[in-house]
This record gives sequence, C-alpha cells and structure tokens, in this order.
Amino acid sequence: MEQELDRPALREYTQVVIQEADRLRSLMEKLLTPQHVPHFSALNIHEVLERVRSVVLAELPEGLLIHRDYDLSLPEVHGDKEQLIQVMLNIVRNAAQAMKGKGTITLRTRITRQITLMKKLHRLAIAVQIIDNGPGIPTHLRDKIFYPLVSGRPEGHGLGLTLAQDFVSQHQGSIEFESEPGRTCFTVVLPLPHSGKQP
Ligand SMILES: Nc1ncnc2c1ncn2[C@@H]1O[C@H](COP(=O)(O)OP(=O)(O)O)[C@@H](O)[C@H]1O
Ligand SMILES: [Mg+2]
Repeated sequence: MEQELDRPALREYTQVVIQEADRLRSLMEKLLTPQHVPHFSALNIHEVLERVRSVVLAELPEGLLIHRDYDLSLPEVHGDKEQLIQVMLNIVRNAAQAMKGKGTITLRTRITRQITLMKKLHRLAIAVQIIDNGPGIPTHLRDKIFYPLVSGRPEGHGLGLTLAQDFVSQHQGSIEFESEPGRTCFTVVLPLPHSGKQP
C-alpha cells in the first residue's frame, strides 16, 4: 500500500499503521502468556510520546493540536516500551475523545525530585503530564475512573485507565489526575533507575 501512495504524509501514516499492528500483536502475546512479564530496557520517554502523538493525529487528523513541552535533558527511564506506549495512548485518546477531536492536548515532561512512589522514596523521577482543554471528567465518575468497566462514553469499555494504572504500577510509578471544565491533567510519574534511597 505504501508504494502506491504518492504523498509523503500518507506514506508516513501507513508506517504508523504498520508499527501499531506490530506493537499490538506483541502486546497481545504478552497479555496472553501466563504471568505476562514486562520487558524492561532503557528508553527515551520522548520516543514513546512522539509515537503516541503520531498515532492519535493519524486517527483524528482534523481539529486536534498536540503541543509538546518536553524537557529534552531528561535521562532515560527503565521500562517496557510497549506498555508505556499503551499507557500514554490510553490517556491521550481519552483526552481526544472527550474533546470530540477538537482542541489542544499538551504533552509535558519534567524531572521531579524526592518523591515517594509505592512507599519508597526516590531521589529522581520523570513526570509526564497530558493536559487537555476539554470538558473535564464528569463529576460522578471522578472517584472511580480507574476501576474496570467505568466509562462515560456509550461506546466505551472502561478498561483504558485500568490497564494504564496496572502498567504504571508494574513500573513502580503512579498515575493521578486533576480535572475541571476546560482543563484536565493526567500525571504519570516513573522512577529513574537507581534513584531509590537506601535505608
Ligand atoms: N481527559 C478526559 N476528559 C474527560 N473525561 C475523561 C478523560 N479521561 C477519561 N475520562 C472519562 O473516564 C472514562 C474512563 O476512561 P477509560 O478507562 O479509558 O474507558 P473508556 O475510554 O473505554 O470509556 C471515560 O469514558 C471518560 O468519561
Ligand atoms: Mg479510554
């Protein structure tokens, strides 16, 4: 298909589609394997975010702006790339869907210091924020959106954030949100390797 397309932008989209199909197959295999162990390696969080950005822009090419506010000096995290792509994709897709495909999403990365994650104090961690200017999370859902099968959309399954939270905790990280009409911000914090304080 790629060879038959004449516009470079369209060719880029077919690449996105091919990469997504490969990633989903491998993720499925992992989910279906007993004890689905994540595959950890050193990775650049911005590569994860750039991938998510192109997937969501390919899905909703009109009306959606995805703004980047990256701290390019961040060190690499130790993580499972496919899991982290799925985490960010689920959050960014929710934001895009809540805005009905029209609005601005900001992807922000920062370093954070002295943070306690899963009862362990970490000297350094990476914070990824996904901010949208949509309607906000419906008030009656706010204290349960991470539970399975909780959805505010007629066609939703309510599994996106449950899976995101499960994957983030496999990275010893945390996921939280703040939401009001006009601004919803999800923050994923991932500890950096060897940043746990020794007793
Ligand atoms: N950025 C957001 N803005 C508004 N609502 C949101 C946002 N993110 C999540 N939600 C709400 O949380 C619900 C649960 O999300 P999720 O677990 O991904 O399940 P699903 O997308 O299948 O509904 C969504 O249906 C939506 O109502
Ligand atoms: Mg979802």
